[in-house]
Amino acid sequence: LTVGVIFGGRSVEHDVSIVTGHQVMDAFDENRYTVVPIYISRDGKWYTGEGLRQLDNYKDDAILNHETVEPVILSPDVRHHGLIRNPLAGRFSKSEVLRLDVLFPAIHGSHGEDGTLQGLCELADIPYVGFATTGSALTNDKILTKQILQQNDIPVVPGITIQRDDWLRDPQAIMEQIKGAFAYPVFVKPATLGSSIGVGRADSDELLKASIDVATSFDRRVLVEQAVKGIEINCSIMGYGEDIRISVLEQPLSWTDFLGFDDKYLRGNEGMKSADRIIPAPIEDDVTEQIQQASKDAFIAVDGRGICRIDYLVDSESGAFYLNEINTMPGSLALYLWRETNMTASEVVEYLVKLAQD
Ligand code: DAL
Ligand code: MG
Repeated sequence: LTVGVIFGGRSVEHDVSIVTGHQVMDAFDENRYTVVPIYISRDGKWYTGEGLRQLDNYKDDAILNHETVEPVILSPDVRHHGLIRNPLAGRFSKSEVLRLDVLFPAIHGSHGEDGTLQGLCELADIPYVGFATTGSALTNDKILTKQILQQNDIPVVPGITIQRDDWLRDPQAIMEQIKGAFAYPVFVKPATLGSSIGVGRADSDELLKASIDVATSFDRRVLVEQAVKGIEINCSIMGYGEDIRISVLEQPLSWTDFLGFDDKYLRGNEGMKSADRIIPAPIEDDVTEQIQQASKDAFIAVDGRGICRIDYLVDSESGAFYLNEINTMPGSLALYLWRETNMTASEVVEYLVKLAQD
């Protein structure tokens, strides 16, 4: 079976995706799978070639000049006609074609995790790993996700939606509405941008106004949420239909999203160091079970398929938990959680490829 693993991409999580992509590629048993690396550069160009398998080559974009790395384009029917390699016939005399059985997106954030790449796979008529177009686009939208979760009785932090036009017309009325509903601090988030872009925390009128100005410059819809004082707890969910698997829980201790490339790169296939997270998370057994059940319910509610990592906030005073975010392409594919749930990296990726083909 030939699996194309796509990583890199145009979002600010480009570097993290390189690491995730390599963890995915390394997990396949190469006696049974042919892995084709497909790299999307920061400016959105697609490449393939064996050189892409060497993690050390990515620093300073040196990979783009590697002798085995060549441009590639996606043909409208990848399965039967293949990816068209080197369409400009630069280094190779004739344009070769790569046929893929399954595409494995390993891209975080915009143009990877938000339904766009998934839509491209649909258009190209090729099976792909992970959430389908609708589930990816839905969970990328914080406002719609909250509404669906509320309808399914899954606890979420209360929020208020602001339309950019309303904000521009009457900011004072919106400030009053927010202050009537919440006490400072609050979070202000653009509805659809990932990777914390445009997100602000406000503990005064001045900051609230400035944060909404920033967020509405990024997105037409903005979410304002009551801040919760507590710890973050994450759970990974995998599967589809009748077969849904739930991981042990972790308490992440640092904001790994903001680590530099060297940290990510040096950690490489080790994944995150154990000091970065506590597994299993140090919370009561009954809360653990409730979070696992909520994760399964949420996965089904948003039409989950493949894998995701669901992030919660647990209020340190009341002990109440709130679903905060559904990441449909978790960093490192949450392999460290599945290892603690007795699934090896190979078992995880092979199961995901099987689901993509069903
Ligand atoms: N967006 C990062 C990679 C995560 O949530 O895992
Ligand atoms: Mg997160």
